[in-house]
Amino acid sequence: MMKDKKNLIVITGGAGGIGTACAKIFKNQPLVLTDYSQDAVDKAVENLKKEGFDVSGIACDITDKKDVEKLTKFIADQGSFKALIHTAGVSGTVQDLKKVYTIDLVATELLVDAFYPLAEKDSVAILLSSMMAHAVPANKKYDDALANPQAPNSFDIVTEFVKDSDTMYNFAKRGVHLLTHKHADKWGAKGARIVSISPGVIETAMALKAAEEHPERMKLIKQATPLKRNGQPEDVADVIYFLASDAARFITSTDILVDGGVIHNIKKMYQ
Ligand SMILES: NC(=O)c1ccc[n+]([C@@H]2O[C@H](COP(=O)([O-])OP(=O)(O)OC[C@H]3O[C@@H](n4cnc5c(N)ncnc54)[C@H](O)[C@@H]3O)[C@@H](O)[C@H]2O)c1
Repeated sequence: MMKDKKNLIVITGGAGGIGTACAKIFKNQPLVLTDYSQDAVDKAVENLKKEGFDVSGIACDITDKKDVEKLTKFIADQGSFKALIHTAGVSGTVQDLKKVYTIDLVATELLVDAFYPLAEKDSVAILLSSMMAHAVPANKKYDDALANPQAPNSFDIVTEFVKDSDTMYNFAKRGVHLLTHKHADKWGAKGARIVSISPGVIETAMALKAAEEHPERMKLIKQATPLKRNGQPEDVADVIYFLASDAARFITSTDILVDGGVIHNIKKMYQ
């Protein structure tokens, strides 16, 4: 007898801070977790299974086209996807500019392209950007390159405007916003949506590492946050749950800030 095909919630970076919080919020829906290392995926899947989740997992380096193909084949074998929640990424603490660009932006478009054939009416791709993307002004000179990260000269063009890996992170995350606009018509023709979400400082391993490297900056950010606290992974997961739900059925090609209001104040400081 043929097994019922499932409508899956797929989470990249599923072993990470925001990825784990997202998994926990989709308790009654079938989940597929993926992350860079098989070990991390196995542990995350085992923990969720113990809590009664319907979850499977597969390792995937999102920068590797063949791995991404393996991931989409894994999904297609089980069913269709309801939501791709793309949280895998690295911060600007990774000093290699190309690595930041490739993981945070090029791989994001690899995933969007790979999941498009599986998208159906009411599927949604939710891409993790960052509030820091809002600190990068629109500029035709680099926006064309950011919107086309797989083009051979894209990285070189963007690098001309970037002074360090933190700035590269901000630019790559602006590129994520631009990808939602670029792909929205194509996805929309299927009745599918594509959005980004831009967190502020969220207390995960990623933010704690940044806090170690820039303690003064992190203190200033907290002081400048209207809500006077950092975010928790659940603050982001709740909004992702909404974006994946039918309540968000008319939301596509846009970004949602979940930053406690701080980026507005940060931008004011530099004006
Ligand atoms: N934590 C924050 O303060 C914050 C703020 C703004 C935006 N974000 C964004 O949210 C997302 C999740 O952040 P987080 O705090 O949960 O980080 P995290 O470091 O806890 O999780 C990120 C996950 O991505 C995985 N990953 C990295 N490179 C990969 C690759 N090549 N292939 C597959 N998986 C890979 C890591 O293994 C890790 O499990 C990231 O895109 C990040 O840029 C985080």
